[in-house]
Amino acid sequence: MATVAVYPGSFDPITLGHVDIIRRASKLFDELHVLVVHNPDKLASATAEFRLELIRNSLTDEGVDSSNIKLSELQSGLLSKYCQNLGAGVLIKGFRNNVDLDYELPMAQVNRDLTGIETVFIAADPRFALVSSSLVRQVAKLGGDVDRYVSDSVAKALRKE
Ligand code: PNS
Repeated sequence: MATVAVYPGSFDPITLGHVDIIRRASKLFDELHVLVVHNPDKLASATAEFRLELIRNSLTDEGVDSSNIKLSELQSGLLSKYCQNLGAGVLIKGFRNNVDLDYELPMAQVNRDLTGIETVFIAADPRFALVSSSLVRQVAKLGGDVDRYVSDSVAKALRKE
């Protein structure tokens, strides 16, 4: 049976850190679904549709083999239920530091409690340890250069804002 994994996140916007996790996770599973999810703790700055477009363009910009990668959106409801319906047994989460793990661990435990889904944590490459979507947005807004944190498509979109 094919192993299907889901990599959920806000991707607001997708960074090179996310792209690296997608590239690495896609090599570990038969199918990887990158899922744009609404995070109730965050106010999204772009529509899910636009975030998906930037994910698609970033994978192309960065030369990621997308043959087993699918992009979709979870509009509402539990992530673990979505994965169950999809037949995905694994959630992918990238982590950069202890703060990320402290945030992710309870979610991994609750998700497993709800449906039995396992979370696989992938350690961020040190090159991307400082990169976060919120900092990228802030630096771009204040006129800074974000080219080394995001793909060309995202940098271009941020310059237009
Ligand atoms: O990129 P983010 O904002 O850190 O991603 C967080 C996200 C979207 C993965 C998280 O908010 C999430 O898992 N939301 C799904 C809602 C859900 O199922 N919650 C209950 C169990 S944790």
